[in-house]
Amino acid sequence: MAQSVIVNIGQLVTPEGRQARAGLAHGQLTVVHDVYVKIENDTITEIGPMSHPPTAHETFDAQGGVVIPGLVDPHTHAVFYGTREDEFLARCQGEKYGKGILTTVERVQSASEDQIYEFSKRFLSEMIRLGTTTVEIKSGYGLNTESELKLLRVIKRLQETMPIEVVPTFCGAHAVPAGVEKSQYIREIIEEMLPRVQTEKLAEFGDIFCERGFFELDESREILQACRRAGLGLKIHADELSPLGGAELAGELGATSADHLLHVSERGIAAMKSSGVIAVLLPGTAFSLNAEYAPARRMIDAGLAVALGTDFNPGTCLIYSMFFMIALAVLKMRMTIEEALTAATLNAAAALRRAHLTGSLEPGKHADLVLLDLENYKQIPYFIGHERRFVRAVIVRGRLVYERSEGRR
Ligand code: NIG
Ligand code: FE
Repeated sequence: MAQSVIVNIGQLVTPEGRQARAGLAHGQLTVVHDVYVKIENDTITEIGPMSHPPTAHETFDAQGGVVIPGLVDPHTHAVFYGTREDEFLARCQGEKYGKGILTTVERVQSASEDQIYEFSKRFLSEMIRLGTTTVEIKSGYGLNTESELKLLRVIKRLQETMPIEVVPTFCGAHAVPAGVEKSQYIREIIEEMLPRVQTEKLAEFGDIFCERGFFELDESREILQACRRAGLGLKIHADELSPLGGAELAGELGATSADHLLHVSERGIAAMKSSGVIAVLLPGTAFSLNAEYAPARRMIDAGLAVALGTDFNPGTCLIYSMFFMIALAVLKMRMTIEEALTAATLNAAAALRRAHLTGSLEPGKHADLVLLDLENYKQIPYFIGHERRFVRAVIVRGRLVYERSEGRR
């Protein structure tokens, strides 16, 4: 049996539990000093004081640094092809966000599976170096059966080849393709795509862009119900650009998460709370769109469990650093650093139905952890932009998948 131990951890910081933490419990972290973590195969088996270190085959010296759970990014559109800097710059000059998704769709439709795989792989490697150990990836730039399946196969290949946990989501309802009637496209999603997604086991979740001009509430309900019949967990892009009522729909359907929520209503918050829907907040999108941030404080104070994600995509947020999201949560959404860390780990894992497996450092959980050259966890949002220097090592399921090459500090 492969045994290893991380010794000389100056500060180990983690939320605890096997489900999302909401309300008051949201910001309660466990902080212990001068400890080791023992790992057997892919699992944490012991956390104990350095005064009594265990023996193990392999030892990794944390040199007094900080250890946190591997970061979980529960919302990305990381399989795409090509970039959209002109649209970005036009938006910076005052243009409104529009139909840019279709630009990426054209490029994805004419690219090969190998090209898209190579293109996305680079981003995933970089995410790993930034401490992300689990990432959700959505399809949604194919918009026809063949191209949506192509994207889902790329996601599967990334899952099989990259040393990071990849969670696949089918998001065929991301936009309506050019030249196709919306009702006809919805039929294609329900009658052609979903059966293939189900039989080829290509996704765990179904997601939809529920937004004026994209998919209205009734259309979103119909598609999400079909996703559920196909065995998928439900996610929804809710109230991102306007207050359409996506959060209420998430509550009504008992979705796993409702994401974005920049314009969430009080009724939406109440509906999510009564069905235990997790609020996945994506502050990098508000940052990149120069928009108002989601009302995180109101949601946490109302008793919701909030998770953080990047929304990494070529249109509204090209940022894939979960550390940057933690900093934005603290700086722009008035979350405490403790709440932000829980949101980027345990609660994000819960938004992927994996809170029993990862998201915290406890015996029995996967050994997914990040070692930081910092003096304490409160330096995380303070040192933002320094991630490549302070992330010293990343471990996924007991395997060292990244170790910074230069010496300490
Ligand atoms: O989450 N909301 C829909 N999808 C992305 C944007 C996609 C794009 O512009 O390419 C988002 O913001
Ligand atoms: Fe998104």
